[in-house]
Amino acid sequence: MFAAVMIAALAARGAAAQQPGAAAGAPPAPPASAALKIGIIGTGHIGGALASLWVAAGHEVLMSSRHPEELQALAHSLGPRAHVGTPREAAQFGEVVLISVPYGATPQVGKDLKSELAGKVVLDTGNPYPERDGQMAVEARRKGTGVASAEFLPGVRLVRAFNAINSGDLRSEAHRKGQPIAIPLAGDDAEALKVAEALVRDAGFAPVVVGPLAKAREFDVGTTVYTRLMTEPQLRAALGLK
Ligand SMILES: NC(=O)c1ccc[n+]([C@@H]2O[C@H](COP(=O)([O-])OP(=O)(O)OC[C@H]3O[C@@H](n4cnc5c(N)ncnc54)[C@H](OP(=O)(O)O)[C@@H]3O)[C@@H](O)[C@H]2O)c1
Repeated sequence: MFAAVMIAALAARGAAAQQPGAAAGAPPAPPASAALKIGIIGTGHIGGALASLWVAAGHEVLMSSRHPEELQALAHSLGPRAHVGTPREAAQFGEVVLISVPYGATPQVGKDLKSELAGKVVLDTGNPYPERDGQMAVEARRKGTGVASAEFLPGVRLVRAFNAINSGDLRSEAHRKGQPIAIPLAGDDAEALKVAEALVRDAGFAPVVVGPLAKAREFDVGTTVYTRLMTEPQLRAALGLK
């Protein structure tokens, strides 16, 4: 399933360190659509659903929790490509890391795991809710989550992803018949976006790159496209994309 784009992606690998978003001495981004090692920080509604979908697509996933023993049953049900560990182990394990925690925990994750996450492709699903996350969420909504998350997660190749779909829909609409549901993405690093696009397809959806991180606000909570289950043509029309 992955071989078709593997060669081109591997050829691009050498250029990865020159990407503007890449930290000095950072590992190159992994090839888009290869079988990847994915670390998941926050294995809740969204992280758990994506873990299942990505394991089914052939990736190796380390799901993490501050109480890893609570994830053993899920890992067992997903089979040998699913592993369990701490958030630090997930950050170390992943060529790609999904961060899917309550938004208020994002600064702490960025601080505690800064060296493990440095230069890695990081997909961020978090949405700021003032009633849950406090004042930082007010500020993040004002700035837009792409800009805010980049400040909380310095040195990573950040992509906003999977924040605009409900977890129930993530499970029920994956690989649906007919046109797939679109997942908007935003990022400043072209190669990280390619990896994210491939992972969106592997999860059973259609990626739509909306633009750089500053454009992530166009699909933040409260926008007209947030959790609307649009197909790619519908999402592109709604956001005025080609
Ligand atoms: N639910 C949705 O439909 C949906 C849709 C789009 C976006 N989002 C956003 O995506 C994020 C995750 O949502 P969710 O519904 O999946 O949340 P969730 O079910 O509450 O899961 C979040 C996970 O984060 C972990 N966590 C909490 N605090 C942490 C910390 N300080 N350090 C490390 N891990 C921590 C928890 O794991 P342990 O306690 O086991 O460590 C928990 O399992 C949120 O920002 C949410 O707003 C949610």
